[in-house]
Amino acid sequence: MLDRGARSLRRTGTARPDRAPEAGKRTGWARHAVPMTSVLMCRPEHFTVSYRINPWMRPEQATDTRLALAQWETLHAVYRDLGFDVRLVDPLPGYPDMVYAANGGTVIDGTALTARFRHTERAAEGPAYGAWFRAAGFAVHEARHVNEGEGDLLLVGDTVYAGTGFRTDPRAHAEAAEVFGREVVSLQLVDPRYYHLDTAFAVLDPAGGPGAVAYLPGAFDDASQEVLRFRFPDAVVVSDDDAAVLGLNCFSDGRTVVHAPQAEKFAADLAERGFGTVGVDTSELRRGGGGIKCATLELRS
Ligand code: ARG
Repeated sequence: MLDRGARSLRRTGTARPDRAPEAGKRTGWARHAVPMTSVLMCRPEHFTVSYRINPWMRPEQATDTRLALAQWETLHAVYRDLGFDVRLVDPLPGYPDMVYAANGGTVIDGTALTARFRHTERAAEGPAYGAWFRAAGFAVHEARHVNEGEGDLLLVGDTVYAGTGFRTDPRAHAEAAEVFGREVVSLQLVDPRYYHLDTAFAVLDPAGGPGAVAYLPGAFDDASQEVLRFRFPDAVVVSDDDAAVLGLNCFSDGRTVVHAPQAEKFAADLAERGFGTVGVDTSELRRGGGGIKCATLELRS
């Protein structure tokens, strides 16, 4: 499997700090150690689409669990190849969406805010991920309000950007601010295809800065678009086509962006900005309405 991952690497660029959005801040890469990226994943052993809780899901169409597994193994191998510390949580039989680990919680400064799912179909995943956080030694805060983890809560610099409209309750935004002691900025999602924030908004540089993110404006209401323009004047604004292949559901360690290969224009924009890019096809997971980022939960200690 590692071979397959290695072969699939399609580096279309290397990080060039002098061309990055925050050039001044990032010139020291070669000299300073970069903190290791640690992520949690869940092997899609029980992946299928057996219910419909987002417009991408079509339970009447057969899924290919072996293909989902093979694509996931490639993503896993790419992360290992990038030097990430990759941890695994055991998949629960009967919970086909558990592969979307990003929804399992939010972990910042060693504290995990557990997930509380909107739909009963996924309810048991919250405690399963919670048990994993506890066993792994994280401080665990049990959520009071519905939140779907990093699907809707994304850290950029010192600020949490929080989606609402379809899944996460706005009261969970205040709860996250309290638990993490960070500023939380609420963003209103309006397009049912982009029901989680991580389908419409991507963190390219976790350190923050005016060009630290990419997003699809049409997925947000006018007020949220205004907030995004103000906070990220140099953001990558993606096309409808690139968003429609879940191109924004990518994962970046700040230097290399792992993305859907179908999002071609987006990949070219990233390379142009000096990011390394690696395409990994997770087309089978897209049938459940998720992609690369959905399958990846960042563990920040
Ligand atoms: N079928 C899952 C759901 O609707 C997909 C979740 C995708 N995850 C994500 N982080 N966007 O809940």
